[in-house]
Amino acid sequence: MNEIKTFDPNSLDKRKFYQLLTGSITPRPIALVSSCDINGNANLSPFSFFNVFSINPPILVFSPVSRVRSNTNRDTLSNVKQLDEVVINLVSRDSVHQVSLASADYDSEVNEFDKSGLTPVDSAIVVPYRVEEAYVSFECKVTSILPLGDKAGAGTLVICEVLLAHARTKIFNEDGSIDPLKLDIVARLGGNNYTITNKEGVYEIEKPISELGMGVDLMPEEVKNSKVLSGNDLGRLGTLTKIPSEAEITEFRLERTEFLNLSETELHNLATVKLEDNKIEEAWEILLYNYYN
Ligand SMILES: Cc1cc2nc3c(=O)[nH]c(=O)nc-3n(C[C@H](O)[C@H](O)[C@H](O)COP(=O)(O)O)c2cc1C
Repeated sequence: MNEIKTFDPNSLDKRKFYQLLTGSITPRPIALVSSCDINGNANLSPFSFFNVFSINPPILVFSPVSRVRSNTNRDTLSNVKQLDEVVINLVSRDSVHQVSLASADYDSEVNEFDKSGLTPVDSAIVVPYRVEEAYVSFECKVTSILPLGDKAGAGTLVICEVLLAHARTKIFNEDGSIDPLKLDIVARLGGNNYTITNKEGVYEIEKPISELGMGVDLMPEEVKNSKVLSGNDLGRLGTLTKIPSEAEITEFRLERTEFLNLSETELHNLATVKLEDNKIEEAWEILLYNYYN
């Protein structure tokens, strides 16, 4: 139970450690990066070492890793050193196989738009094309290129400031927010595995920041050390600012006499059902049913 295995990057085979990193740091978003060299030769490659790192200024970062076998640079990296502009396109389910095809190690003069069949569209500000099939594209200026090492497999951070964003209108809700199901994004897992965003996979966790939650440390011992409640249950319970008062519980006991003869375990089990339903106050009232007696 909860047995731990420990790995040292200096002694583990590099490939194995790569599998550990990319198999555990998941799911990773995929940037489909469009770049071009100084002669205008277009290149298109996916990068899952990618994320957003700043809102103002809006900064996206991706990392081409030097080829492990030959310790040579990806064409994308050579390109951004020649022309400091890219378009970062986001990959939805209906084009992911073409994106995978674009990742093949074609010669630098080969245009992956042609190979993948994805459609190049003129950008508004930058020279590289954007991808017509992408639901969201960011025209970017490369503001800095930061090598992280010189050995085979070393990454280079390509830091990109977003100059202009394009998004299909169909991905938005009426309130202007992006609907994750309409975006239909694909993300990378370990090995050859990918994941999609579907109805079962999307759920809400209210941010505990509008009011400062009490936290697990301030809960009564019998709740904190419950044999029934899980860590997630405690996390939900901890979002309330304080536990219900004695007066509130007294009132609850008068209304809800059906709990009178239940054991602590039974009460805790009932509370977990309420928590699943996001009825946090009621869960507390059940948990504290006999607390003030
Ligand atoms: C979904 C996906 C994500 C990838 N992410 C990365 C990455 O983050 N860094 C990297 O160096 N290569 C990554 N690759 C591999 C590159 O896309 C591949 O090596 C490509 O040939 C590089 O193209 P270039 O040499 O034209 O730049 C990824 C491949 C796929 C299919």
